[in-house]
Amino acid sequence: MKTIVIAGGNSGIGRQAARTLLADGHRLVLLGRDPHKGEAALASYGGDADRASFLAADLSTHDGVRDAARRLLDQHESIDALVHTTGVLTTTESRTADGLHPFFAVNYLSRYHLTQLLLPALRHIARPIVVMMTAAIPPVDGADYTRFPDFASFDFAHDRKPVQLANHHYAAHLTRTEPGLAAAVVNAGAAKTDILRDAPWYMRAGARVLGPLVFDSVETCARNVVEAVRQDDWTTPGYWGKPGRFEQHTPITLDATVTQRLVDTSRTLTGA
Ligand SMILES: NC(=O)c1ccc[n+]([C@@H]2O[C@H](COP(=O)([O-])OP(=O)(O)OC[C@H]3O[C@@H](n4cnc5c(N)ncnc54)[C@H](OP(=O)(O)O)[C@@H]3O)[C@@H](O)[C@H]2O)c1
Repeated sequence: MKTIVIAGGNSGIGRQAARTLLADGHRLVLLGRDPHKGEAALASYGGDADRASFLAADLSTHDGVRDAARRLLDQHESIDALVHTTGVLTTTESRTADGLHPFFAVNYLSRYHLTQLLLPALRHIARPIVVMMTAAIPPVDGADYTRFPDFASFDFAHDRKPVQLANHHYAAHLTRTEPGLAAAVVNAGAAKTDILRDAPWYMRAGARVLGPLVFDSVETCARNVVEAVRQDDWTTPGYWGKPGRFEQHTPITLDATVTQRLVDTSRTLTGA
């Protein structure tokens, strides 16, 4: 039985991945903001729920991540797999308590910070797994990092790529620095979840009209995460770009000097 932490496991794709991994017989810890959604997720798992728990956490702030990591480490000496399906689709200008844009803080920095703090528990396992979910961002150099990490006057069209590609760089860093650890990025695809709740009206309207035609099922979007946790013999660092197609794996090869710069900046911001 593996111990698997899913940040974002109380909702959408993370919640579905947790359901399948629980059915496999594993122990799951779900993190998320909303305790009602956490309780509802546990209740939906029926008899498997006795191997699942929920931790309410605001991972948009440094203190929230530190508090979540402390509680996890208090309860679990070892963690086999850490999955990040946290995400917000905040496209307008706003700031967290740490002065960062929420899209950057939740969709990248919380993943870096929480993983760094949980490394002592991951290191107890011979082949620990870290999986980060993003939108479709192939692992190719060329993003503009000049506005990283402040993204002053956030410009979603321009800034989303460096934020999301930072996940791939972090997967490369983990592979280089943590012997035995396998790290990957998974494209979520498109599915009807709560992700559009903060999105602009035109995105929500587009999803209402086109969603039934183009959306994948939540089960399909969760499949690559589930398989990455089940099968730990894949090449790291890796990227799965097609929802539900675990056989289509792309190795991540990125400019190591950019990786180091992003990791140095993340360390300076979080202290981890
Ligand atoms: N669905 C899509 O079409 C799509 C497309 C592209 C990328 N993605 C990515 O796929 C991943 C899964 O998203 P989803 O579609 O399953 O959406 P979702 O249902 O909205 O799930 C997002 C999760 O992130 C959690 N979260 C957000 N802000 C948080 C915070 N400050 N602290 C702690 N947890 C926080 C949410 O918790 P609460 O619900 O409690 O707030 C929820 O569990 C995300 O990374 C998303 O960006 C999804």
